This record gives sequence, C-alpha cells and structure tokens, in this order.
Amino acid sequence: MPSLTWNASLANDLAPMDATHREFIECYNAAAAAAPEAFLPAFDRLIEHTQAHFDLENGWMAAVDFPGCHRAEHDRVLAVMLDIRKRVERGDRFLARRLIEELPAWFENHVNGMDAALAFHLASIGFDVESASLRPLADGEQRGAGCGCASMNAPEPATGSSDAEPVAQPAA
Ligand SMILES: [Fe+2]
Ligand SMILES: [Fe+2]
Repeated sequence: MPSLTWNASLANDLAPMDATHREFIECYNAAAAAAPEAFLPAFDRLIEHTQAHFDLENGWMAAVDFPGCHRAEHDRVLAVMLDIRKRVERGDRFLARRLIEELPAWFENHVNGMDAALAFHLASIGFDVESASLRPLADGEQRGAGCGCASMNAPEPATGSSDAEPVAQPAA
C-alpha cells in the first residue's frame, strides 16, 4: 500500500506550510490505508484538508501578488479529487486507486517545487505569514522578487469511466 513519510527533504522552513504538509501526509496515509467501506470518509477528510491547505497558500500568494501557475495547479488537483469523489460515491473506485498511487509523487514534487518557491519568495520579501504583513526594510535593503514557478504536472481532471484509460497522470 502506498504511503508518505515526513522527512527533512520536505521541509520548506516555513512553519505553517510545513505543518499543513505534515497534515496532508496524515490524511493521505489514512485514506491510503482505509478499508473499502471506510475509504469515502477518509477521502473526504483528505479533500477537506486539501481545500484548507490550498486556501492557506493561495491566501499568501494573493497577499503578495505572487505570479505564476501555482494557484491553477491547486485548482486542478482539487477538481480531480472532487470528480473522483463523485465516482467513488457511485461505486467506481478505479480512479481513486490510481489517485492514491500517484499522489505521493505529485505531493513530493509540488512541495519541493512550487511550495518551496513560494516559501523562498515569502522569506525573500520579508513576508510574515502570521501577521500577513511585510517586515520593514533595513536601510538600503531591497525586497527579493521572483515567481519560481516550476514546471509541474498536476493530475488532469478525470474523464471517462473505469474501463477507460485513467487521466490522472503521474508527475513528470
Ligand atoms: Fe502545499
Ligand atoms: Fe502548493
């Protein structure tokens, strides 16, 4: 059974971000380990977490006018999850199994790519995520800039049925 383990390579040195990534791992592992009859509530918990997780990062991006495709990646992943949830509700678990297999690679790439770039950018401009404000600049200091938008592949929104090819693609 696939699983995720927190390790130092996932740390982006931004405490609230790292905390939400640890929570993602807990929710993912619970869904991955759930018996078939317990999968839907565990998957709902993962979706609920993911919505809050993405809202948190999207809020930081909006606050600092962060450019790039990070938010769109979040939107795509949530769309896939919500589509797959409907299929599970109808008794179709095929794409849910594929998603559970593919999420660890997506998560590690996303955390080390787009999330790392966001954490770096927030630190470089002196953005305090707790107060949602910029720290004052010292004399002569300039704020950093940069999107750091990595080329990441999100799973595509699912289409088709169990007998079709899955459309949730593994991360490149
Ligand atoms: Fe994240
Ligand atoms: Fe993210």
